[in-house]
Amino acid sequence: MRIRIDNGRVLDPSTKRDGIYNILIEEDRVTKIAAGCTDPADRVIDAKGCYVMPGLIDLHVHFREPGFEYKETIATGARAAARGGFTAVCPMANTNPVIDSPEMVSFLLEKAKKESPVKILPIGSVTKGLLGKEVTDMAAMKAAGAVAFSEDGKTVMDAAVYRKGLQQAAAIGAVVMDHCEDMDLLKESVMQEGTPAEARRVSGVSHASEDLITARDILLAKETGARLHLCHCSTAASVWMAGEAKKQGVALTAEVCPHHFTLTYEDIPEGDTNYKMAPPLREKKDVEALRTALKNGVLDAISTDHAPHSAEEKARPFPQAPNGIVGSETAVALTITELVEPGILTPMEMAEKMSFHPAQILGLETGMLAEGRIADITILDPNAEYVIDKNKFASKAKNTPFHGRKVKGKVLYTIVDGKIVYAAEEEQ
Ligand code: DOR
Ligand code: ZN
Ligand code: ZN
Repeated sequence: MRIRIDNGRVLDPSTKRDGIYNILIEEDRVTKIAAGCTDPADRVIDAKGCYVMPGLIDLHVHFREPGFEYKETIATGARAAARGGFTAVCPMANTNPVIDSPEMVSFLLEKAKKESPVKILPIGSVTKGLLGKEVTDMAAMKAAGAVAFSEDGKTVMDAAVYRKGLQQAAAIGAVVMDHCEDMDLLKESVMQEGTPAEARRVSGVSHASEDLITARDILLAKETGARLHLCHCSTAASVWMAGEAKKQGVALTAEVCPHHFTLTYEDIPEGDTNYKMAPPLREKKDVEALRTALKNGVLDAISTDHAPHSAEEKARPFPQAPNGIVGSETAVALTITELVEPGILTPMEMAEKMSFHPAQILGLETGMLAEGRIADITILDPNAEYVIDKNKFASKAKNTPFHGRKVKGKVLYTIVDGKIVYAAEEEQ
């Protein structure tokens, strides 16, 4: 199969190529990038006015299989990812059973082979059963195909156990993805503390819940030499610490999610659990700090923390509803609307944060759009304006705070290994 993509704005962070070109794909590879190329192809895509990027890579999703298939399955999560422009995703380990053994990693990969249109890169847990006590056999999980390790959803509160986990990860050169939340400070809190929490008479948590663990784990990473990746940074202090640690040469990378650079706690409509996630929405000064950190490179990646939950679960009162929102199908639009349109990120920087850097963080050979590379490609129209409609989501779950929001930026095609796995034109 040969596909030609004509007249798109090709953005390749690996070569810094940014210009209008035609791209030829043969089988699973990009074989030619040249202006005006007219080589014959079975399918020609007109990408005039579109960005053509290396396939987007989401470092942080929750597919609920095994154990919570009523929220999402690998098949539905992967379809949502493809619709969102992602060619590869990293599902976190907080399933039931937990992804804490090579057998569980193999289970995910086997399922993915049969059911997923996008690449599934499993993340193994740091401790057995996510219980925070006994470190897993990371080497065995890595051999089975785990690309990184994380306790996401929780923090390992016993610093001695976490230190052991980081030492083990350092020994095998693996990245540890860090969910920073002090579980003791958190207790029953359900949102950021301050006026909105007081008005709603719910208990709030301070910035320190995130910042204490960020500080602790940066120190542990420095000591153990482990590669630490900070998940979903949401506070001004966490990105300040990340910047200082990077200056000191700590092997640190950091991500941010669209909801954290878009919304503040003031935006939460009373009782609307689609605005409840961990870490919580913060203050305007935090959002500003996150945007600055995206611009100056302290934040390396944009990930979604796609966290599907059922309508019944999210219909509970705010304090009892589970944390998390879906993100796969809104990330591109929010990044274009909130960051690229206002000039905070260039289109090239968007390609870096959503594809090139995630690939580099995991040591993948993808995330590049150059001759000879694997043809994982995302084509999006940055000028398409529309209103986000959760009823169109491919995800099983609809728990988004962005339903009804007017945005710019639409994914038109997602191509994995030279095959079109999503085409907007085929949707009604
Ligand atoms: O909001 C969140 N939801 N944050 C997490 O860390 C976990 C996730 C989930 O699993 O639902
Ligand atoms: Zn998390
Ligand atoms: Zn998460």
